[in-house]
Amino acid sequence: MSAGLLTTCYLGAGILFILSLGGLSHPETSRRGNYYGVIGMAIAIIITVFSLKTHSYVTVLPAMLVGGIIGTFVANRVKMTAMPELVAILHSFVGLAAVLVGFNNFLEPIANLAGAEKIIHDIEVYLGIFIGAITFSGSIVAFGKLSEKISGKPLLLPARHWLNLTIDISIIIIGYWFITTEDFQTGLIALSIMTGLALIFGVHMVMAIGGADMPVVVSMLNSYSGWAAAATGFMLSNNLLIITGALVGSSGAILSYIMCRAMNRNFLSVIAGGFGTTSVSSQIQIHGEVTPISASDTADMIKDSQSVIIVPGYGMAVSHAQHIINEIANILRKRGVNMRFAIHPVAGRMPGHMNVLLAEAKVPYDIVFEMDEINKDFADTDVVIVIGANDIVNPAALEDPCSPIAGMPVLEVWRAKNVIVSKRSMATGYAGIDNPLFYKENTHMLFGDAKTRMDEILAGLSTQS
Ligand code: TAP
Repeated sequence: MSAGLLTTCYLGAGILFILSLGGLSHPETSRRGNYYGVIGMAIAIIITVFSLKTHSYVTVLPAMLVGGIIGTFVANRVKMTAMPELVAILHSFVGLAAVLVGFNNFLEPIANLAGAEKIIHDIEVYLGIFIGAITFSGSIVAFGKLSEKISGKPLLLPARHWLNLTIDISIIIIGYWFITTEDFQTGLIALSIMTGLALIFGVHMVMAIGGADMPVVVSMLNSYSGWAAAATGFMLSNNLLIITGALVGSSGAILSYIMCRAMNRNFLSVIAGGFGTTSVSSQIQIHGEVTPISASDTADMIKDSQSVIIVPGYGMAVSHAQHIINEIANILRKRGVNMRFAIHPVAGRMPGHMNVLLAEAKVPYDIVFEMDEINKDFADTDVVIVIGANDIVNPAALEDPCSPIAGMPVLEVWRAKNVIVSKRSMATGYAGIDNPLFYKENTHMLFGDAKTRMDEILAGLSTQS
């Protein structure tokens, strides 16, 4: 295949990826955005396969077949609630690929380089392996935390910032050693030591972030995996990998920044591994009793309301309650109730988690509002139904300066006339902290699995209508 055709197709695929990102920025255009992405990736794969040398097919085609079968099997089996950990483990593969490509490039350089070209090539290899190793080990720890195989709490070693600094300085010194040496053995040793340090750095960095700050880790590793892919592109002189990696890297970085702003966290502090995180615990004792409510009483309460806001959280995803909630919303809208949904930026376990589930259940976009748009409206709302959410509606974020989530903007549901919280028990949410909302006078606890209770509410509403 001619180099011109290859470049043109790669350029076309790159443009489709940019259109895809543009489409994904709004629910109404997201389906189109997905199609652009699929077409772009299909072009990229097909053209890359056609551009291979004949003998490469022996390894590439079986690898694609095995990978494709495993990918299809995993994607078909994964539950929506397990998507974040799947994404985390997939990021680790990108990191591992960058490490392997980097070592391969060092062991078998494509050409005999000298002078400035060799220095640039060595920097590419070094950076590629460095970013890849951090992405690999960090993503594995993130996978462990998100799948609750390891504790989600931040692990704060006593001298953690000194440890980070020592590793950073060592990596710079070893990098200088690697780039200036002419000896192959010495280069290999330098590269191996740096890889070990980068792996430790990745583990330590993600271990130190936890609780409610985990969303930033998810988007940050997404960004790192993009930079790792871009570094691989430089090593392989593949323009499409560079474009794609840069798109993923920069969009992930922007998302991390947006997440931090939504959570009122300093971006650099979070990625430095819990900088500013102190091991304080809440000073406020929660007093009062909880007031349980039944599903039929809830149905009675909402049917006569003028305005209802539903706040979905991780528990809605666990119980798959979104379809039944849409039916409830439809009945209320037909009765003339001002019915809306309020979405917190870090609700659930991945960016846009709740938006995806509500879109899947065909909830109209125009009644779904972001936190900033709807927070002021709670005070004029008759009933707020919190479904499987906890941290994102915790007033301690605003009222308790010692709370681990202090300063994080939350949905101020307690300002409504009545709040109904649907959850199974008094258990804490992801951040592991108690929630004073449950003890407030205007709050009623609707205990039980969210879907079962929503089914009962729907039955209650249907018999009354
Ligand atoms: P959480 O604070 O995790 O609370 C979810 C609640 O759902 C739990 O308290 C649980 O209580 C309840 N629940 C679980 N299964 C249920 C079921 N079948 N029926 C009814 N209730 C059920 O969720 P949230 O309020 O959505 O907040 C998200 C948290 O995750 C934040 O701390 C956020 O920082 C973190 N996080 C977010 C992301 C992203 S990117 N969104 C990524 C990683 C971490 P019971 O056990 O009593 O039922």
